[in-house]
Amino acid sequence: YPFHSPFEAHELIAVAHDLVNPRGKGVYATDESPDAMDDLLDSVLPEGGKKRLTGTEKTERRKKWKEDMYNAVPSEYISGVILHEETLLDFKLAPLLSSKGIIPGVRANKELTPIPRSEEEYIVQGIDDMLPRLQAARAAGARFSKFRTPISCSSEKTGFPSPLSLEIQAETLAQFAAISQQAGLVPIVEPDVDFSKDADLARSADIHERAISLIYERMRAHGVLLEGSLIKPSFPQPGLQHPSKARVTPEQIAVATATVISRTVPSAVPGVLFLSGGMSSDTATKYLAALNALVLKSEPSSPFSRLPALTFSYGRALQGEPMKHWGKGDEAAAREALKKWSKAFWHAARGEVL
Ligand code: 13P
Repeated sequence: YPFHSPFEAHELIAVAHDLVNPRGKGVYATDESPDAMDDLLDSVLPEGGKKRLTGTEKTERRKKWKEDMYNAVPSEYISGVILHEETLLDFKLAPLLSSKGIIPGVRANKELTPIPRSEEEYIVQGIDDMLPRLQAARAAGARFSKFRTPISCSSEKTGFPSPLSLEIQAETLAQFAAISQQAGLVPIVEPDVDFSKDADLARSADIHERAISLIYERMRAHGVLLEGSLIKPSFPQPGLQHPSKARVTPEQIAVATATVISRTVPSAVPGVLFLSGGMSSDTATKYLAALNALVLKSEPSSPFSRLPALTFSYGRALQGEPMKHWGKGDEAAAREALKKWSKAFWHAARGEVL
């Protein structure tokens, strides 16, 4: 390993392996910013229940929500949890997860700033002070990190993403991955291709293919240890404004996704963890199950049979229903719902359609 000592490399490789194995296990993403978390928790209050909370009360509410979910998260289905820096450094909740055998990770990206002269596309901040931040996160118990870059995607006619934005996102993710490994944390690079516009499935798959290929080109330039890294992409899919959206089947999504991954993700990478991106929990289950079912039944001669672990790193799809119960004060139902969806995604990542 030209850029890592054998000890550092082996630790990164072991953590990356443990996040996606044994087959079925996946990651729970809970790294919303404090403001986004407050909005989510407000949105599930029963009608008329909205209270004006002070800053301290809001902080206490965020902490209580995370504590409740981390106490409930089932370690037989969930390998890791992504924490916001507030949860890791201020609430100090990593030991609660580690004591259950769940690996804590940290969100490394900061906020978005528009690319000058490129409408609706963004540069993601957080690279400048990343090394000391990730070293502090490691000292607080984190063993992996995640960096999300949004990628706009529309039909060829409207033309998103711009080639410039693809280059910026790939370079940013590769810099992040190299720094994360320098701090001793397994990097999860997250190219999040948006599906709100008018791209069809073929266009979305093409954009995924271009984005992910460029990321691995830049990772190579930065000397990232691929065996000690993971990727968290979106599922290729038609945009909400494309008429085929209502007709597309999980099997079509599965073929497009397996094709993209087999063409772009080097076989040295131990796993792919999909994001849910605002899809319903049901849809997120079906897409993941169809993908794994396709891979498991593929012939040994097919490139699909050689794909790495394909699992989940879901946020909204995993905690959407629990949060609704929690907002109504039913904490037991919230804990049960978290277990129910963790188990459903575990089955899906094993290709088991229930
Ligand atoms: P979603 O599954 O809600 O997209 O969250 C995953 C995530 O980590 C977003 O950055």
